Amino acid sequence: MIDLPGGRSHLLPKYVLELSTKNEKGATVAANTVQPCSNTEDDPITAFVSETGGLMHALNALQARDGYIDAALVPKLAKAFNITKAEVKGVISFYDDFTKAPKGKHVVRICQAEACQAVGSRSLTAHTLEKLGIGLGDTTPDGHVTVEAVYCLGLCATGPAVMIDGHVKGRVAPADLDPILDAAEAEA
Ligand code: FES
Repeated sequence: MIDLPGGRSHLLPKYVLELSTKNEKGATVAANTVQPCSNTEDDPITAFVSETGGLMHALNALQARDGYIDAALVPKLAKAFNITKAEVKGVISFYDDFTKAPKGKHVVRICQAEACQAVGSRSLTAHTLEKLGIGLGDTTPDGHVTVEAVYCLGLCATGPAVMIDGHVKGRVAPADLDPILDAAEAEA
């Protein structure tokens, strides 16, 4: 059992322990780094089936290709990597970067960990969700904005911390976020 920031706990799937592997030149690389593969676009699952950490490569490739992990592919992944469907689902749900549906054009991640909670991240989250009319983890119906929870962005001393399209910002107040959300929603 692994305790995560924010009080979350997960059983760590054994496949997650495969955090590094070797590339074709013998160098050690992070397992969650998608490596070039000639037939990745044809079939990201079979392309990595014989590699150490291949499940992570396949999931990363599918996420990159489709923008999400199609639940219909879980049985195929399980069969290819000789594991159970529950284990595949466990890996997908463990990592926030794997999603079960396409994300919005813009992704806003609001820190829910303790230090940010202490300085208002929950009220910032509630304000954001109310403004957009969605729930946490959801995407606006027009597909413009996804709001997600994240558990620490490394800006604990300057919370509430938010990541917007990969860029982190500290001491974010609703008044700071509103214009950004308005601009995102106004996009064609
Ligand atoms: S607790 Fe929010 S950035 Fe660390």
